[in-house]
Amino acid sequence: MTDLPASKRHRPDNQDAAPKGKGPSVDDFTPTTMSMDDFNKLSRNQKKKVMRQEMWDQRSEEFKEKKRMKRNEARKRQKRRIALGEAPAKRKPEDQTRSGHQFVIDMDFDSKMIDKEIKSVCSQVGRCYSANRQGPKYVDLHVTKLHEKCRHRFDTAIADHVNWLKTHVMFHDKEYIDMFDKDKLVYFTADSPNVVETLDPEKVYVIGGIVDKNRYPRLTLDKANEQGIAHAQLPIGDYIQMASRKVITVNQIFEILLKFIETGDWKSAFLDVIPQRKFKEGKAGAEQESHGSESE
Ligand SMILES: C[S@@+](CC[C@H](N)C(=O)[O-])C[C@H]1O[C@@H](n2cnc3c(N)ncnc32)[C@H](O)[C@@H]1O
Repeated sequence: MTDLPASKRHRPDNQDAAPKGKGPSVDDFTPTTMSMDDFNKLSRNQKKKVMRQEMWDQRSEEFKEKKRMKRNEARKRQKRRIALGEAPAKRKPEDQTRSGHQFVIDMDFDSKMIDKEIKSVCSQVGRCYSANRQGPKYVDLHVTKLHEKCRHRFDTAIADHVNWLKTHVMFHDKEYIDMFDKDKLVYFTADSPNVVETLDPEKVYVIGGIVDKNRYPRLTLDKANEQGIAHAQLPIGDYIQMASRKVITVNQIFEILLKFIETGDWKSAFLDVIPQRKFKEGKAGAEQESHGSESE
């Protein structure tokens, strides 16, 4: 019997494997992961499994290569857009000034997310870093309490994070509550009855590092209440009408906060960052409150 992990075994058996009758026959197959002698000791079904697994592994290498090429193409396109003045160039760190504002992304929600959401939230943290590297002002961004799944994602798919500027993002094992004065903390949560009017550089604002498609309403509000810290929502409803619930993603809220620090104007920050399709009937406006799906 082969000792392939179960997670790897199921895929080659499904429709992603080579179609029946079209792939090579197990009789002509030469394995690369075991000797021919060992292979010949296997039952016909076990041989097929080994063959499919090896073919799958080969294909997944091809997929990875395609993904790498796509990423390189996207980088080249972005460079062209920058050269044509269609996209802002990344600023040199010395051309940015430290705003003095402090933000936390609270990553203490590993167990509440499926793998796809773990990937999504980690790439949202990456987008926050990129946004923090782009504007004229940057903030102190603390990413706290990474657990196993997100840490693994950062160590593998986002391994480059070790080169991110420590001035623009800091990773901590600790939780924010053990790092800052309790009375300085304000948890951002769409469920708070309090609406923030401006950003106080003396406060430390916390964003929930979670993608949950609205499965856990009030999750961060309850957490803030349990910890006895202040909470607030963004004043989205004062400036634009949303087609659904005013829950936005981690990077969207972070980008809005950066824009507000830069311009002092909530409305233009919302209009710049929140996708138009999220506005009610494609329009910006005020006075609306409804509950629908999380806008991700
Ligand atoms: C996708 S939401 C998570 C929703 C989650 N159910 C919760 O209870 O927070 C990610 C984070 O973005 C922030 N956020 C999203 N929409 C917000 C809003 N309208 N006002 C303030 N913060 C918001 C919150 O910090 C939230 O935890």
